[in-house]
Amino acid sequence: MFPFKKKEKNELPLEVPKHIGVIMDGNGRWAKKRMQPRVFGHKAGMEALQEVTIAAKNMGVQVLTVYAFSTENWTRPEEEVKFIMHLPVEFYDRFVPELHRNNVKIQMIGDTKKLPKETLEALERAEEKTKDNTGLILNFALNYGGRAEITQAVKQLAQEVRDSNLSPEEITEDRIADCLYTQSLPCDLRDPDLIIRTSGELRLSNFLPWQAAYSELYFTDVMWPDFGEDALRSAIVDYSHRHRRFGGV
Ligand code: FPP
Repeated sequence: MFPFKKKEKNELPLEVPKHIGVIMDGNGRWAKKRMQPRVFGHKAGMEALQEVTIAAKNMGVQVLTVYAFSTENWTRPEEEVKFIMHLPVEFYDRFVPELHRNNVKIQMIGDTKKLPKETLEALERAEEKTKDNTGLILNFALNYGGRAEITQAVKQLAQEVRDSNLSPEEITEDRIADCLYTQSLPCDLRDPDLIIRTSGELRLSNFLPWQAAYSELYFTDVMWPDFGEDALRSAIVDYSHRHRRFGGV
């Protein structure tokens, strides 16, 4: 499915990334500019996420992985952490019904067992309710850290070697990928084709370091709460003009 009739400069249809990763940054600054507390920005960020998810689905994106809370975010003020941890509960009540109607499947990655009980339960309810949906996968990265993800994969493999179920020679890239959190995604959709970061910061901040090896990167000054359908379309137009060579020529 092609979302646009034409590419900007020629008549070809746009190439839509199958998997987009998003670093939803700038909520706090967005709120501060409006003389509001930081959490006001997170709430607005959740609304932006709803709009972007439906827009991405309509454009033919198959997986949207969103960085909602990193393993480093626990160092934020307690009140802010509490607020973010409550968002999935609100998200379930306010947004999941519409996402479900749109055939969106909700999943999560990260060290999710360490999330507060009510947070995890809300996400598990969302997963359960949408598990048979066949449309876009909205994949929440929560208590996610890329290095932690790789570390637990190494531990799993080391354990298998110790138990004599695996020889070091059998450790391949595919075998490692099978131990990462993203093994929950369809095999051909685990790696993001495009990673978007909002708010003008130019780094990946421990987001999908293994999976991003060949991702195209797109940075925009737009703050996440202001990122909507038009901004997503601009990112996809930009992606469409890239030449991905995967190390070839
Ligand atoms: C980064 O902006 C944003 C976050 C750490 C939280 C993102 C969470 C959401 C958008 C809501 C997700 C929805 C659910 C249901 C979990 P920042 O606070 O670092 O902004 P700043 O850089 O301007 O301070």
